[in-house]
Amino acid sequence: MRTEELIATATALMAGDKGLLAMDESVGTCNKRFEEAGIPQTIEYRRAYRELIVTTPNLGRCLSGAILFDETIYQATKEGVLFIDILKKAGIIPGIKVDEGTADMANFPGEKITEGIDGLRQRLVKYYELGARFAKWRAVITISDDTPTKANIEANMHLLARYAALCQENNLVPIVEPEVLMDGDHGLKKCAKVTGKVLATLFKQLEKQRVNLQATILKPNMVLPGTRNSKPVSVQKASKATVEVLLKSVPATLAGVAFLSGGQSPAEASAHLNEMHVKYKGKLPWPLTFSFARAIQQPAMDIWRGDDKNVKAAQKLLYKRASLNNAARRGEYKPEMEEKLA
Ligand code: 13P
Repeated sequence: MRTEELIATATALMAGDKGLLAMDESVGTCNKRFEEAGIPQTIEYRRAYRELIVTTPNLGRCLSGAILFDETIYQATKEGVLFIDILKKAGIIPGIKVDEGTADMANFPGEKITEGIDGLRQRLVKYYELGARFAKWRAVITISDDTPTKANIEANMHLLARYAALCQENNLVPIVEPEVLMDGDHGLKKCAKVTGKVLATLFKQLEKQRVNLQATILKPNMVLPGTRNSKPVSVQKASKATVEVLLKSVPATLAGVAFLSGGQSPAEASAHLNEMHVKYKGKLPWPLTFSFARAIQQPAMDIWRGDDKNVKAAQKLLYKRASLNNAARRGEYKPEMEEKLA
């Protein structure tokens, strides 16, 4: 383990007003989004879409890192330039999703466990050689009347910590992503309670597995009511609840926090990130940024629709969405900026 290199990578990922783009959808998830947008679900369309993303002009001004998927890390532009080389040239650190998705957890109906720990060490060695400098592993926690169970939280957080230790052994900065899903009719309080429990368990496990927090990034959900909960919650209230949960459960030595968007609209995700910076500027022990997938990509994917002639317009939207999140990180985002986007 080269600790200095790891800390330097983690620091670079959290620097300035930049953030991360998750472009690591598995084949299944990418195809599902393509289907919804009316795009053919083939390997060539997935390649073309990822080419559109990585060749977006000036993306390096907005992004510190981009998370790739196994299929994507080997892919190249039509001219044959590897995506990973394009990212590096743009000053964007390449990362890789290394979990192998989720499966039903035996004996725990309705709960998921993340797969992919077997053979992970060898895969990490290979990804480092290919140029990846950080990795991501996602655990999924479901809120319902009977879930999450303690057993599910513990099993998932244990795996996250084992993954993180293996990453650091192989000089990749681990992003640990314990996602409490927005699905459900639960309220803000319930989400805060579950997220707090999940994070407390995660940091206990990380300590047990001797993971260096200075070289670790947390990718949490924001604290929000479930998507089927009809009681509206203000941007201020949700942002406050999110920061309060983090302050209670996240050690100050952590390199940083990079939120997932989790199904919020792009504008909501930016507004929440902005509010956290406006209210808590200078008061937090770790930097807060974005590591969104849908909240950056969706408008671009919708306008592209698989058609070459829409590439430029899609890239423009992608760049604007990323730069609005830079503004949010500076606490300078305003909803009026969305109209200019339209
Ligand atoms: P969303 O921002 O779309 O939630 O995706 C983030 C992510 O990387 C999920 O693993």
